[in-house]
Amino acid sequence: MVQKTPDHFAGLEHLATAIILLDHNCRVVYVNPGTEIIFAFSATQIIGLHISEVFPNCDILMMAVNNAIQQQSPFREHEFTISTHRHNSFAVTCTVTPIESPAATLILEFQQMDAQLRIAREERMLIQQQANAELLRNLAHEIRNPLGGLRGAAQLLEHELPSPSLREYTQVIIKEADRLQALMDRLLIPHRVPKYQPTNIHEVLERVRSLLLAESPQSVIIKRDYDLSLPELIGDREKLIQAVLNIARNAVQAMQAHKTPASQIIFRTRAERQVTLARKRYRVAIKLEIIDNGPGIPADIRDRIFYPLVSGSEGGSGLGLTLAQTFITQHHGMIECTSEPGNTCFTILLPIETKAVKPAINQQ
Ligand SMILES: Nc1ncnc2c1ncn2[C@@H]1O[C@H](COP(=O)(O)OP(=O)(O)OP(=O)(O)O)[C@@H](O)[C@H]1O
Ligand SMILES: [Mg+2]
Repeated sequence: MVQKTPDHFAGLEHLATAIILLDHNCRVVYVNPGTEIIFAFSATQIIGLHISEVFPNCDILMMAVNNAIQQQSPFREHEFTISTHRHNSFAVTCTVTPIESPAATLILEFQQMDAQLRIAREERMLIQQQANAELLRNLAHEIRNPLGGLRGAAQLLEHELPSPSLREYTQVIIKEADRLQALMDRLLIPHRVPKYQPTNIHEVLERVRSLLLAESPQSVIIKRDYDLSLPELIGDREKLIQAVLNIARNAVQAMQAHKTPASQIIFRTRAERQVTLARKRYRVAIKLEIIDNGPGIPADIRDRIFYPLVSGSEGGSGLGLTLAQTFITQHHGMIECTSEPGNTCFTILLPIETKAVKPAINQQ
């Protein structure tokens, strides 16, 4: 279908921002070239589609559209992430403006969030994460030694007790010391020297899938949506397995606790081009999404889930995601998460361009 610019919108052709015009049924009637550049789809693919088909599962955008229609005034949503029907994600600010025209009813204008802003935020996160990791490592070392002393003393005391019934108390000390010891050991794991080798991301995912299915056979379906043309990355297979396992296991646990009907996890892989990670530009990165339809991450901890010891589940130690993030950062990648009831998505970006990765690996 050849797209014609309605005469009165001819000026939109030249704007650098993305402009999409919708008719009264919220179907796309026009997109400007800026849209094609920013979102990487062609006009012919989306003309005639409902806006919710162009950007599926984007409640924020739909709310902005509905608000603008109902209030008949412009509505702006700042800095949110939007995914296209081809599963590419973008950080944008969007203004929805109702117009009176025979050709269209709404103008949607998208501005991509300033890449610099995003990079600065990522850098801040990285620095904070490194400081956290160092603090924890030092703390774990400091706690380990006196803990050994405490446990030994409790054992000696147990032998000297006049009545066996008092052992109940020394056993509490010993068991709690062991629990703390196990926690400290987990805090110190990430510092094993990584073993880098060519690694196929799909082998990593298949291993995680079989581990999870063995743990919880009937209750969850794990679907694969793989781009099998992705090249291998240089990585530590065991650490990548652990990172993905920690994320996917949380999903299984949340869905089981919530008794989610038809619970499912999707493992999706895609290539992402021209990615900037920790100020380095990579031509290609693997984008891995782990999506579940469980209850979502509790709102009160949503902003802090990657921090150590933050847990929303009974008996959880709150280290799974901290470790996952550490392992992915060791691969020069990053993890992000969006969550709402019925749709939680962890996105991992892992650079695969060996030229950019190799020198950094040698520093480890
Ligand atoms: N997919 C998810 N759905 C719902 N909640 C989640 C999901 N992923 C993480 N969470 C929440 O984030 C919290 C932190 O997860 P994290 O893996 O770091 O710690 P944990 O699972 O509590 O303990 P552990 O150290 O044993 O993994 C979880 O307790 C859970 O409340
Ligand atoms: Mg966990």
